[in-house]
Amino acid sequence: MGAKTRSAELLYFIKISLFCIFLLVQKGFWFYNIHYYNLPVGRILEGDNLMKKFLALLMAAMLAMALVTAGCGGNDEKQAGGEKLLRVGTEPSFAPFEMQAEGSEELTGFDMDLIRAIGKQLGYKVEISAMGFDALIPALQADNIDVALAGMSITEERKQQVIFSDPYYKSGLLVMVPKDNNDIKSIDDLKGKRIAVQIGTTGAFRAEKVEGAKVTAFNDNGSAVLEMKNGAADAVINDAPVLKYFLAQGGSEYAKTVGEVLNAEDYGIAVKKGNDKLAADINKALNELKQNGEFDKIYNKWFGEAK
Ligand code: ARG
Repeated sequence: MGAKTRSAELLYFIKISLFCIFLLVQKGFWFYNIHYYNLPVGRILEGDNLMKKFLALLMAAMLAMALVTAGCGGNDEKQAGGEKLLRVGTEPSFAPFEMQAEGSEELTGFDMDLIRAIGKQLGYKVEISAMGFDALIPALQADNIDVALAGMSITEERKQQVIFSDPYYKSGLLVMVPKDNNDIKSIDDLKGKRIAVQIGTTGAFRAEKVEGAKVTAFNDNGSAVLEMKNGAADAVINDAPVLKYFLAQGGSEYAKTVGEVLNAEDYGIAVKKGNDKLAADINKALNELKQNGEFDKIYNKWFGEAK
């Protein structure tokens, strides 16, 4: 945080303290107005004088403490209007985990609800920004974001670069082909074929292993699907829940998935290496949300029978 923000904050606290002290030393109607805000303080202050003085002192001491913490609270957490800020990066072409809400700038989806709930649990203001999927880990490493949450599969390679939270979703890959294709029945039939994928994903890595395949990697999943729809690719490899959601949302008019779910993968929330504290906090919050039923609520919202 810049020195400017801090001194503005300090000034704000001084003003508030002065105003409160002013209120406390007044005996006029001010106190009774406090009832309006539904604070018990007005009622207490109707008591004897000693009580008033004691409360005034207490209040002053508390305000002084607030001043000190605001002024020299040497923390490395980013602050937004006095609240801790959690900067989250995602890639929103991955419904129902992250996507643009219809007709709005807002990002929505299972992951987005989850991280907002985690942020709330930990007292963070959550700020989500969109970027390329392959830009997420570099953004963590460059300290441009605190958390990457994008249906990111926990892999050995990525574990060398970031810390993952406990797994929060069991996933895997699937092959999708045009509905009228009857030759491709599983990934084994993709040899020498044209496969469209999203850059930097486990689907892309899997496609690269298919013998003789011509793999085209796109920045977003929509473009990969479009490539297949346009007949420029024979298949798409992507995460099973995302393809299933896509088919359920109308994609089944021209596409279908084939074969078994491949590569059992778990999704994890990634933080920068060295940020063990945040990773532990996230796991703690995740656990609490599982205990108190909030996690299931979010899960059912996106994966319940209706979807
Ligand atoms: N689970 C896959 C992976 O980790 C794909 C994730 C893509 N996520 C996204 N938001 N586009 O590679």
